[in-house]
Amino acid sequence: MASSKPTVFSGVQPSGQPTLGNLLGAFQPFVKYQDTHTAFFCVVDHHAITVRQTPEELAENTLSVAARYISCGLDPAKCTLFVQSHVSAHAELGWVLNTFTQMGELERMTQFKDKSLRHAQNINVGLFDYPVLMAADILLYNATEVPVGEDQTQHVELARDIATRFNNLYGPTVTVPKAIIPKAAARVKDLQDPTRKMSKSLGGKGTLFLTDSPAEAAKKIKSSVTDSLAQITYDPENQPGVANLLEILAALTHRTPQEAAKEFKGQQYGALKSAVAEAVVQCLEPLQDRYNGLMADKAELQNILRKGAEKARAVAGPTLARVMDKVGYARF
Ligand code: TRP
Repeated sequence: MASSKPTVFSGVQPSGQPTLGNLLGAFQPFVKYQDTHTAFFCVVDHHAITVRQTPEELAENTLSVAARYISCGLDPAKCTLFVQSHVSAHAELGWVLNTFTQMGELERMTQFKDKSLRHAQNINVGLFDYPVLMAADILLYNATEVPVGEDQTQHVELARDIATRFNNLYGPTVTVPKAIIPKAAARVKDLQDPTRKMSKSLGGKGTLFLTDSPAEAAKKIKSSVTDSLAQITYDPENQPGVANLLEILAALTHRTPQEAAKEFKGQQYGALKSAVAEAVVQCLEPLQDRYNGLMADKAELQNILRKGAEKARAVAGPTLARVMDKVGYARF
């Protein structure tokens, strides 16, 4: 059935503007998998609508996330890049898996609790059910590895539990996945409040967007919050701002934050900030050029996603059929 390569699946929501955190914690590390894994990358529009979206923006952002992936080095010929709603099996398997998930399990999800507070006027059933759809995404492609940020590991654990439960009841049917957290800059922090994750929804001066001009990006780095200890060491506990800058620099220059710290021994924070700003600008410029090129030819982008959905359906369809057969749906 499957090739000998492990299979990786991950998804990015087409909501809001992606940040440096998304680039270093998601896009860049995910792209590496396309050479070593059978890789599926999905723009999860069904997930995005659990928080109210402006219709024109949702469609535009869906293409934008795909362009973002490709501009970061993802090659649609080497992996499967597609839009979740283009493959109807996601919603269908999600429904089936609902019946293998307990209310209590979803009530325990910390992201649901957080989002319920933030979107108190729209605690819809989709927001509650979101992790089950995510389980469907993962299980449809027989994914063994799911690279995600720390905030999503609880959801992947749930997918494991659902998969195990199904297999225990019906015999081996679905692959039990596990979460992997990319090490480099898995959690880029807010530049103004380095105790908080950089967030696209909170925005502000502490969030560096991938759409920021090089001058804006450099300015945000240079006005980032550090501390008054006046020493460049990698100490996330006591020097979160400096640690954040070192992590960003390390991820962009492919070394460890400790190695980066050594280089700046005895120097002032200004020197570190300048180096980080330069590395960020050098990374952003070519990426923005590629991104703008892709977004200028929507028809081509749509073609790529259409082909991706076709490839995705060829894998998702048989999984859904296997599950429905086991459950006993009358299929003829
Ligand atoms: N919930 C993920 C997020 O917000 C996105 C996502 C949806 C996902 N389905 C997925 C991630 C499946 C990994 C695997 O970041």
